[in-house]
Amino acid sequence: MPTVYLNGQFLPLEEAHISVMDRGFLFGDGVYEVIPVYSRRAFRLREHLDRLQTSLDGIRLENPYSAEEWAGLIGRIVELAETEDQGVYLQVTRGPGPRDHAFPKAVLPTVFILPMPLTPPSPKSVARGIAAVTAQDNRWLRCDIKSTSLLPNVLLRQHSVDAGCAETLLLRDGYLSEGAASNIFVVLDGCLQAPPKSHLMLPGITYDVVLELAQQGGFPHCVRPISEAELRAAAEVWLTSSTKEVLAVTTLDGQPVGGGRPGPLFRRMHSAYQDYKHKVMRGNG
Ligand code: PDD
Repeated sequence: MPTVYLNGQFLPLEEAHISVMDRGFLFGDGVYEVIPVYSRRAFRLREHLDRLQTSLDGIRLENPYSAEEWAGLIGRIVELAETEDQGVYLQVTRGPGPRDHAFPKAVLPTVFILPMPLTPPSPKSVARGIAAVTAQDNRWLRCDIKSTSLLPNVLLRQHSVDAGCAETLLLRDGYLSEGAASNIFVVLDGCLQAPPKSHLMLPGITYDVVLELAQQGGFPHCVRPISEAELRAAAEVWLTSSTKEVLAVTTLDGQPVGGGRPGPLFRRMHSAYQDYKHKVMRGNG
């Protein structure tokens, strides 16, 4: 039974309870982060806490803690966790109040931190890639906010499960936005390309890592809008996220991507990512 943090207390998960009047429960009125932890070191913690601040600003909720306080709480949860590697989930909601859409007058936010086991993608999914489907991106226009209101993402992700696939790639107005729970890259004419950050996608921490590694590794790369036709013609398609790291999409809507196997650029990036992770584990990242 993991130890979690809830509103000032560290306690066993089964003893952690919140009010049914919590606005996170009633309205999905909250934001969250998922922070990978390797060898008890939080990966890109500052960047995750900066994005948390941006999400809180986006929903007009004051940050209950300073970055140092967050680092202390997360550090304690990681120390108490059973395994060295964790996916630390944290969420802040606008707290309990009468059921009224408008903000309550006095806000007592609910803060919850949960360590989850972090299972890296299987060697088989790295070696063979994964299958994905496409769908129209029917989410709101502030997908840059990492909101707990995830119903559209839940339905879009389930769409891929129903098709026996691992992810749904989202298209809005003929352009690729991201995955239901990941960011997407393509390789076109030997050049790694990703959609630019905007209100229509989550600015992924892994997305930034991959672009940095591309820069360091001398991969030709650029950030530009990617049309549906370009996505379907791409030699390689990758997805990135804190829990999936970087994976090749080798089948899209039942059609092979490129040669239907993870491509050469993917193999280079995957190995650069693993090297970088090991550097972080040794405390040099
Ligand atoms: N999701 N886009 C969406 C919609 C996401 O939900 C995620 C990650 C990403 C990738 O962001 P990052 O590289 O910072 O993990 C992009 C997390 C893992 C989740 O909801 O569980």
